[in-house]
Amino acid sequence: MTTEKLFTPLKAGALDLANRIVMAPLTRNRARAEDDAPYDIHVEYYAQRASAGLIITEASQIMPEGKGYAWTPGIYSKAQIDGWKKVTDAVHAKGGKIVVQLWHVGRISHTSLQPGGKAPVAPSAIAAKAKTFDGTAFVDTSVPRALETDEIAAIVDAYRQAALNAIEAGFDGIEVHAANGYLIDQFLRDGSNLRDDIYGGSIENRTRFLVEVMDAVTQAIGADRVGIRLSPLSNANAIADSNPMALFSHVIDRLNPYGLAYLHLVEGQTGGPRETPEGTDINALRKRFEGAYMANNGYTRSMAIEAVESGAADLVAFGRPFIANPDLVARLQQDAPLNDLDRGTLYGGGREGYVDYPTLDSQAAA
Ligand SMILES: Cc1cc2nc3c(=O)[nH]c(=O)nc-3n(C[C@H](O)[C@H](O)[C@H](O)COP(=O)(O)O)c2cc1C
Repeated sequence: MTTEKLFTPLKAGALDLANRIVMAPLTRNRARAEDDAPYDIHVEYYAQRASAGLIITEASQIMPEGKGYAWTPGIYSKAQIDGWKKVTDAVHAKGGKIVVQLWHVGRISHTSLQPGGKAPVAPSAIAAKAKTFDGTAFVDTSVPRALETDEIAAIVDAYRQAALNAIEAGFDGIEVHAANGYLIDQFLRDGSNLRDDIYGGSIENRTRFLVEVMDAVTQAIGADRVGIRLSPLSNANAIADSNPMALFSHVIDRLNPYGLAYLHLVEGQTGGPRETPEGTDINALRKRFEGAYMANNGYTRSMAIEAVESGAADLVAFGRPFIANPDLVARLQQDAPLNDLDRGTLYGGGREGYVDYPTLDSQAAA
């Protein structure tokens, strides 16, 4: 029997979690093509992983314009809410907890993925030097159109509605995706936000969109059911800022008063090195947050045990290990070997590489 704190329960806001091991949000591009809804295969995939203390779903667009890749699920239509309800029921039936990651990609999209073939929207009309997957190939992201000031309220409202939809779909809460160079991150950073209205310029102004989104979703469903993900020192999707420490110190100061369920930080480069540039310090940002802290990026069993034991993290999110190991919690508990990840089946496709990774039990029976 393991006694490490990693395997013990935690109450994070309104979320009563059986252990501190979290399934990180993982885009898998398997939503139903005709309506971007999750269906039976998603029910099976998430239910297989229900022993996580908390599942954070793959990023899910809050509105059609928020989509940036082929076959990602939405959380704005009845079919999508109905599909997600089956997922949450199955996870809850196995004693798990699940929140949905709310996503608007902003400029990380392509005209072929946008309603009416229009340009994606962003704080400023600056293309990201990044690629997206349009269903057949990796293509350069399209040049976006800068949002008019009076268009922004409708996007904030779509976040509010998506949070309400999440509760209707049976989710235990939501995670606001403010990481990895998508719309909220694009507003925050001075490399992608050159606006001269109240949403651009000073750090305070660049943080305004985030604050409006957080006001909307916390008022809609309660702050204790809302988490947020930031990747302050990552340049995922070609995001850049001249002073990320000053920016994200301000962001965290603005987040503290809400009393959120948790803050989730990607430490270092998303899916890459944990080291950060000189003069930056992820620990300083982590310590600035007053609530439950969820760490992510490159964690191994021993790193996760140590982080929770020492108080550096309350929760640890695992991404790639959860793709290949549906029973990751049991494997970490028993210090059992992990399955290897098949990179060829990460994005798109069907059951293969999705719901067919073996568990310890199925391996023992074989
Ligand atoms: C296939 C794949 C899909 C991902 N999709 C998302 C996503 O939808 N939302 C998000 O915030 N991060 C996403 N990420 C980043 C992961 O959540 C995580 O930050 C990254 O894999 C590092 O954690 P790990 O070392 O435990 O895998 C994705 C990563 C991978 C490998």
